[in-house]
Amino acid sequence: MPDPTPLDALTSLESAGQAELAGRPDEAALRAWNTRYFGDSGLVKAAMKGIGGVPKDQRPAFGLAANAVKVALEAAYDVALTAARADALAASLAAPPLDVTLPGRVPPRGRLHPATQILRDITRIFAGMGFEVVRTREVETDELNFELLNMPAHHPARDMWDTFFTTTPGVVLRTHTSPGQIHVMRAAAPNPVRVILPGMCYRNEAVSTRSEIQFLQVEGLVVGPGVTMADLKGTLTAFAKQMFGPDRQVRIRSSYFPFTEPSIEVDIDWPADDPNRDRLTKGTGWLEILGAGMVHPTVLRHGGYDPDLVTGFAFGMGPQRMLMLKHAIDDIRLFWQNDARFLGQF
Ligand code: FA5
Repeated sequence: MPDPTPLDALTSLESAGQAELAGRPDEAALRAWNTRYFGDSGLVKAAMKGIGGVPKDQRPAFGLAANAVKVALEAAYDVALTAARADALAASLAAPPLDVTLPGRVPPRGRLHPATQILRDITRIFAGMGFEVVRTREVETDELNFELLNMPAHHPARDMWDTFFTTTPGVVLRTHTSPGQIHVMRAAAPNPVRVILPGMCYRNEAVSTRSEIQFLQVEGLVVGPGVTMADLKGTLTAFAKQMFGPDRQVRIRSSYFPFTEPSIEVDIDWPADDPNRDRLTKGTGWLEILGAGMVHPTVLRHGGYDPDLVTGFAFGMGPQRMLMLKHAIDDIRLFWQNDARFLGQF
């Protein structure tokens, strides 16, 4: 049998196309058909290229025939598309109607991060004791983070805080919220203050189950005539009982900070029924939640007060450590990992 002529190829293309359309394809299949036949590298274009093999005198006839095939296939496509849409409509009308009484799917709702929740709890408790909330900056000068807190350059106590330095000399990421004390005192002196300063702190230390390089602190500061250590102990104990319940034990130990004298640290007992208790508390059963003390006279002076006229107390607590205690969470790193399975429990 001789090779099909370009004209034969055109004719069989038409019958193949018509046959496919006659099978009542749905709209998606029709669109695919259209691309296959009329697309840029489609079958119709390819068949038209056959004109190169047609003798010169037969080319006008080939052109006419080719055009007729094109028009016929286009018309058949339009008819099939209209039919497919009518079929789809009829099918949807015949299908069982939508049951609008079915309960809807509830979209998942976000919630406050546990760290935000505990910050709000802390704020509520201190607001109940008459404390104001003040926000202070996270990028600090070396002067406020250290010097004015009684730690001049090369003071060994600076080693208590592994610091992130910025590329600007003398500018650091604050290692604690205590520089906020200076900001507040300078704005308020010589009037009394009673504030808490919540915010993020940064330390270049080894990340572990109890320590993050980025963590929250809430600083507290009270300055006025006749403020005593008894006020500090009373305030912290009242706070701990409200935060952890009347049954949790609070332990106050003496400690050292350059900006307070005397200084203390406060521990809370870890839930006794938690199997991780020994590991997390290094076998002691206690977890430190804050440092505190009576504001050092030098710091009061830097804040603009006369230490002969006023005294003050300050504390710095770790809300994430407190969350761990409240819920017996054994790894502080969970807070910033943003795993919805963890966060969804709060
Ligand atoms: C301080 O940062 C002092 N500025 C606290 C202070 C304020 C003392 C005012 C006296 C007067 P310390 O480094 O111990 O102290 O940190 C205080 C609390 O922050 C800790 O008890 C702990 O709860 C929390 N904390 C400290 N480092 C981390 C860390 N890497 N990750 C999570 N929490 C931390």
